Amino acid sequence: MNGGKGERSYTNNCLLQKKLMLKAKPILEETIMRLYRDFSPNCMKVTNLGCSVGPNALLVISNIIDIVNTACTSLNREPPKFQFYLNDLFGNGFNTIFKSLPNFYTRLVEDKGHKFGPCFVNATPGSFYGRLFPSNSINLFHSSNSLHWLSQGLIEEEKLDSFNIPVYEPTVEEIRHVIEEEGSFFVQRFEILTLPWVEGLNEGGDNSFLDGNIKAR
Ligand SMILES: C[S@@+](CC[C@H](N)C(=O)[O-])C[C@H]1O[C@@H](n2cnc3c(N)ncnc32)[C@H](O)[C@@H]1O
Repeated sequence: MNGGKGERSYTNNCLLQKKLMLKAKPILEETIMRLYRDFSPNCMKVTNLGCSVGPNALLVISNIIDIVNTACTSLNREPPKFQFYLNDLFGNGFNTIFKSLPNFYTRLVEDKGHKFGPCFVNATPGSFYGRLFPSNSINLFHSSNSLHWLSQGLIEEEKLDSFNIPVYEPTVEEIRHVIEEEGSFFVQRFEILTLPWVEGLNEGGDNSFLDGNIKAR
């Protein structure tokens, strides 16, 4: 993703992904509630695979803290400590995220008071197509808008300059097949969430009246 905060940066062009993430939030709530009912870790270890750079990387953390706190309150459990491992490729702008952490920690305390356990944010650079963690070390793997990206390694310059988007958009059957064949996981809930591309154009606004050329651009 494009780093920095310019017009074409991911930071300024991630509204569509934010809206998708919010659409999937009920699934995350259900998952965390189940995790807490069956097993309440003292330190909740969470990774965000393909976190990128920009506001969504930290929004995931804030959402998860809220959901865990709600789960703990309703199950009458102590809130845990949190350890978040932000994962993305080695070239990701992790330093930009780190620089925004002091403000983020301050806002967490302002917004949520002191009712949540301490929160530690780490980076785990590397490809999620390889091993990133020792076995049995993570309580929750979260990923949004990332697992469809294919790691192409180095590509030829002509491809770089062409309209080459290295994504693979599989069918539902293909996803189910890959998960079942690999064998480490079973599918508990499987949904297709759709969102029109124009949802990413402006926050809170009604995009349906926008001129076609603006939408296309
Ligand atoms: C569209 S961004 C999504 C960012 C964020 N999760 C969100 O929802 O806004 C996709 C991210 O996946 C990362 N990515 C792609 N392939 C990856 C891989 N093999 N391992 C780790 N991260 C990867 C990209 O570098 C990019 O930052």
